[in-house]
Amino acid sequence: MNQPRRATPIHEQIYARFRSMIEQGQLSPGQKVSSLRALATELGVARGTVQVAYDRLLGEGYLVARGPAGTFVTEHTAPAKPARARRTAVAQRPLPASDAPDSLIELEGGNPVPLQMGLPALDEFPRKLWARLMARQVRKAGSLNRPAPAGYMPLREALAAYLHRSRGIDAHADQVFIVPAYTASLALAVDALGLARASAWVEHPGYLQTARTLERIGMQTCDVRVDEHGIDVGFGRTHFPNARLAVVTPSHQSPTGVALPLQRRVELLDWAVQHDAWIVEDDYDGEYRYRGHPLPALKSMDSYGRVIYCGTLSKVLFPGLRLSYVVVAQSLVPQFELACRRSVHGGCPELMQAVVADFISEGDFSRHIKRMRTLYARRRAMLAEALAPYCADGFVVHLQDGGMHLLVDVREDLDDVVLASRARQAGYAVHALTAWRNGAPGRRGLLMGFTNIRNRDEAEQLVAGLIRAFDLRAR
Ligand SMILES: Cc1ncc(COP(=O)(O)O)c(C=O)c1O
Repeated sequence: MNQPRRATPIHEQIYARFRSMIEQGQLSPGQKVSSLRALATELGVARGTVQVAYDRLLGEGYLVARGPAGTFVTEHTAPAKPARARRTAVAQRPLPASDAPDSLIELEGGNPVPLQMGLPALDEFPRKLWARLMARQVRKAGSLNRPAPAGYMPLREALAAYLHRSRGIDAHADQVFIVPAYTASLALAVDALGLARASAWVEHPGYLQTARTLERIGMQTCDVRVDEHGIDVGFGRTHFPNARLAVVTPSHQSPTGVALPLQRRVELLDWAVQHDAWIVEDDYDGEYRYRGHPLPALKSMDSYGRVIYCGTLSKVLFPGLRLSYVVVAQSLVPQFELACRRSVHGGCPELMQAVVADFISEGDFSRHIKRMRTLYARRRAMLAEALAPYCADGFVVHLQDGGMHLLVDVREDLDDVVLASRARQAGYAVHALTAWRNGAPGRRGLLMGFTNIRNRDEAEQLVAGLIRAFDLRAR
C-alpha cells in the first residue's frame, strides 16, 4: 500500500513562495513585504506560522528587518531580476501541425508566434489608455453587475454609430447584439432563425472554424468554390439550391484575400431573397484596406433584411477581449433577443463592454484603426520585400488590397502542406492554403501573418529562417 503523502507544512510553503518570488525578481530588492499580522490574516493562518517562515528568510539573508519601518527584501544579496525574455524574431518552439487548422489559436496567451495570422499588433496596443479607461469603469459599480443578455446598451449604441460611419450600415442600437466570439454569432443566428437542421454554403477554401461550428450545431455544410473573385454564387445555386444559409467573407475572403465584386454581391442577395435564405457576412477584418477606402459591407446593400452581419473586436482591438457583435434587420430583433436570453454563455462581461464603449465614443477606436492601417501597410511591405528575393525559387507574393496576412504562391513541384509542416516544426506559424480546402486539390500557397513584424531586420531574419526550415533540397 502506498504511504499517504505528507502535506508540506504551511510555514515551509510560505518560505518557498517568498524565496522563489525574490529569486525570480517578482519581489524586487528593497521592496517592503507584508507585516506578520497582515500576511497571517490574508492567508488565514496563525501569526506564529508566518513568523517561522520570515525568520528563516531573515536568517538566510533574503529579507532584512528594519524595526518599526517593517521588513524588506534585502538590497544587495538578492539575485538580480532576470532580464525579461527578449522576444526574438527567430522561431524556437515547434508548433502543432495544422493540416486542419480548426482556428487560429497558435498559443494560448503569451507573445505572438512568428508569422502568426489574425493577430493584431500587440506591441502597438495603447495599453496605458486602456488601463485608464478600465480604472474609470471599475470605479463605477454598475459595470460589475450581471450583464444584459443582448449586450451593454452604450456599446450597442457606439457600435451602431461606428458601423454607420465606417461600413455604411444603417442600424439602430437595438439591432446590434453583443456576443463573446464569432462562433457565438453563428450559433446565435442559427438558433434565432431556426436553421439547425438546414444546410449552409461555406466558402471553399474558407475559415474552417465556420464549417466546424455549423456542423457542431446540427447544420449540414456545402463547400462552394471560391475563385479569383470570391465565392462562386452560380456554383452554389447549381449544386446546392436548397441551402438556407450562406456564410461569406465578402470584404476580404478568408484566406485568399479577394474582395467580392458588386455583381456577385447582387447575385448572392438575389439568391437569398428568392430562396428564403439568409446570408452571414463575416466581416472579420474589413477595416484593413491599404489601397483606396474600405469597401462598404454587404449588409449596407441589404434592402430585404437577409444579411446577418458579424463583426469582431478581435482584429481591431485584441482577441483576448472576446467581444464580437451581430447586426440584424429590425424585423428580426425580437427573435434575436429571445435567442440571446437562452444562449448558453449568459452574456459578455459588462465591464469590458463599458471600456470598449468609452474607447469608441471618445474617438480612440477610429484613431487606433487609422494608426494600425498605416502600421500594417508598412509591416506588410516589409514582409513582402523580405520574400522578394525568393520569387525565383517560386515563392510569389500576391499583394491583396487588404487583410492581416499574405498569401504566397508556391511552385507546382512543391507541396504547400509539407512546407507548412516543416515551418511549423521550426516554430513559424505558417499555414498551407491546401489545408484550408480540407486537402482538396487546387491552388497551392502559404499563409503568413505580418502584423507583429516590427522592423526590416526582423522581417529578413524571419524569412531567412523560414526558407531554411523549408529545406528545399529535401523536397
Ligand atoms: C475568418 C474569420 N472570421 C472570424 C474571426 C473572429 O473570431 P473571434 O471573434 O472568435 O475572435 C476570425 C479570427 O481569426 C477569422 O479569421
